[in-house]
Amino acid sequence: MSVTLALVNQKGGCGKTTSAIHLAAALAVAGHRVLLVDFDPQGHATLGLGQQAPETGRVLADLLRAPGGPPPGAIAEVAMEVREGLYLVPGTLGLAGLEVELSGCGQPEQRLERALQESGQWDVVVIDCPPNLGFLTLNALSACDDVVIPFDGSPFAIQAVGRVGQTLETLGEMTGHRPETWYLPVMVAARDRLGRAVVEQMRARYSGQVLAPGVRRSVVFPQAAAVGRTVSEYRPRCPAAMDYPDLAQRLVDRWRRDRRFEADFSGLIRRGQELVFTHRHLSPCEVRLAGEFNDWVPDGGVRLIEGADRWEKRLTLPPGRYEYKFILRDRWMVDPANPDRVPNSQGTLNSVIEVVSETASPSAARARPPASRPWPEAERVHRGSRRSAEQRAPMIRRHFRPSSR
Ligand SMILES: Nc1ncnc2c1ncn2[C@@H]1O[C@H](COP(=O)(O)OP(=O)(O)OP(=O)(O)O)[C@@H](O)[C@H]1O
Ligand SMILES: [Mg+2]
Repeated sequence: MSVTLALVNQKGGCGKTTSAIHLAAALAVAGHRVLLVDFDPQGHATLGLGQQAPETGRVLADLLRAPGGPPPGAIAEVAMEVREGLYLVPGTLGLAGLEVELSGCGQPEQRLERALQESGQWDVVVIDCPPNLGFLTLNALSACDDVVIPFDGSPFAIQAVGRVGQTLETLGEMTGHRPETWYLPVMVAARDRLGRAVVEQMRARYSGQVLAPGVRRSVVFPQAAAVGRTVSEYRPRCPAAMDYPDLAQRLVDRWRRDRRFEADFSGLIRRGQELVFTHRHLSPCEVRLAGEFNDWVPDGGVRLIEGADRWEKRLTLPPGRYEYKFILRDRWMVDPANPDRVPNSQGTLNSVIEVVSETASPSAARARPPASRPWPEAERVHRGSRRSAEQRAPMIRRHFRPSSR
């Protein structure tokens, strides 16, 4: 079961591509399998991830222009893995000519939907649209379950968003397809009074659908794009680096609540000196646990307890600070519910959990740094103490993990 999300607004430069890249990357870092479709002939999402469309071989435009349309699931043919768990379908200039090329064909605006059908291997598909409401955007709207409309704080933002709303209305009347719609404020600086007024008007008009507070204005976004990286890769400790991961988590929470996202799971939790991982939907062999506590041997030393509607994996550990990862099917991933992560020798991240002695003094417990954001459940993992990069470096070198990952 997957969710397809399109970033749409005919207004240029309002953050569609930046949002598509960062949402896709944040969802992949959180352990989901994500496909980012660069559906803009400008190819900015491709460039923003430091990629280029292949010079030879088939590209998305070739699939869509094929006589009779693409076979279901054909998109996998043109996707490439660009980060752990993040796949990209590059955008090329050829997309621009499709509308004319396909003008005599039946239902040309459903070709992307068909190419994505039954692809099944991704948890989330994110589509970056061009700055118009033409043929490509209509294809994306037909293919998606959710639409995110980024808007900035400019005076024309409300009018632009209204046009997208009208297009969605027309689509709904013509096809019966009514994607869930979200409005995302971006680039609104804290001191921008006009921008904040625009956000307030949007909240009044689209109550419950505005993803406020949204994404702050920060120079790190264009800086990171210029070097083909996400902000989390470029400046992981900058406050803006958490805006999209927080947003991604809110969307996932919503999808989970609507039972649209059952493959998702919450993270490792601590019960006394036991670490516990619970799941309802996946089978125990589909998701395993490896870390410093079991020499990175998947599920080494883990006890499995199976219940009627869920199972648990448990580990009892001595006090200490442990790096770990989940292995979802065959893919190693950080714990999506634990923001404490450190770089590892493979150039990716490990999650960190700290087990403290149950007899530790209350003053020692108080000395721990405060959580930067609330845990979704009362009994969440212990946050590891933050260390400087210099302090971490020897530890990262020491902990080699198998390269088979
Ligand atoms: N939160 C932000 N703070 C500061 N600058 C941002 C932010 N988000 C995006 N930008 C910058 O604004 C510019 C436009 O962003 P982006 O390319 O994402 O918009 P777009 O809607 O995709 O544009 P287009 O309509 O051309 O496709 C880029 O230079 C981008 O780096
Ligand atoms: Mg763009």
